[in-house]
Amino acid sequence: MFDLTGKIAVVTGASSGLGADAARAYAKAGANVALLARRQDKLEALAQELRAEGIDALPVGCDVTDEASIEKAIETVIDHFGRIDILLNNAGVAVRGGVDTLSQEDWDRSMNINVKGIYLMCKYVIPHMKAQNYGKIVNISSVNALFGDKNDMFIRHAYNTSKAAVLGLTLGMACSYGQFNITVNAVCPGLFESEMTQNTLFKSEAFLQGYSAQCPMSRPGRRGEVSGPILFFSSDASSYVTGQHVVVDGGTSLV
Ligand SMILES: NC(=O)c1ccc[n+]([C@@H]2O[C@H](COP(=O)([O-])OP(=O)(O)OC[C@H]3O[C@@H](n4cnc5c(N)ncnc54)[C@H](O)[C@@H]3O)[C@@H](O)[C@H]2O)c1
Repeated sequence: MFDLTGKIAVVTGASSGLGADAARAYAKAGANVALLARRQDKLEALAQELRAEGIDALPVGCDVTDEASIEKAIETVIDHFGRIDILLNNAGVAVRGGVDTLSQEDWDRSMNINVKGIYLMCKYVIPHMKAQNYGKIVNISSVNALFGDKNDMFIRHAYNTSKAAVLGLTLGMACSYGQFNITVNAVCPGLFESEMTQNTLFKSEAFLQGYSAQCPMSRPGRRGEVSGPILFFSSDASSYVTGQHVVVDGGTSLV
């Protein structure tokens, strides 16, 4: 049920962190992968790693806030692979600050990457999924869509808003495209080390200790631990599951 042999997966923000980990998990499950992001050198390095395992990996430069860039990227993927079965909307940015301090520029950047990016990717991928009557879309949201935090390091109002919007978009799309055998689900990670967090949250020993003390599993997430739930929503293991989200935070949000 989790086998992705012969499937074509598109991953945005594949140049680092959770996106690169998910691309590796897709490859391990047998899928060929299109790696989309802005940093071509990083994409090429990951593509080489996956090709060494016998996977066809295609690095494609793409800025998810730029419609022309997305249109061209999807054209490139279709020219190469002929279809798209899985879309992982992972690209994202976390800007710190509350509404009383955030600049409009930072607010717009968060919304553009985290929300508009998903809308635009789906706009160009869904017609292909509809035509083949098959598709698995997975949107990366966050626990910050569902839970607040008084900790200064977690005050990120534009992030909260954008990640909650991702859940709204997920359920709307799930309702509209189920008839085309397209499922749309979301994953809400808790705290994981990545480029996004390594110079902020992971820099503070006091913060990490506080987080671990609160977390029922007594630690932050490890690299690759989001990939299992992503694989579930990307494979036929979730053939009758749509419009749902799963929280991957070691139980932190329960207490
Ligand atoms: N790390 C965590 O603790 C955590 C927690 C909850 C949710 N998330 C979410 O997981 C996703 C991946 O984040 P990560 O932690 O791996 O961080 P990351 O910074 O390593 O990855 C983000 C990726 O998005 C790409 N990206 C940013 N803007 C882009 C654009 N305009 N066009 C194309 N690509 C763009 C970056 O280049 C990068 O590859 C994000 O959506 C993030 O919000 C992460």
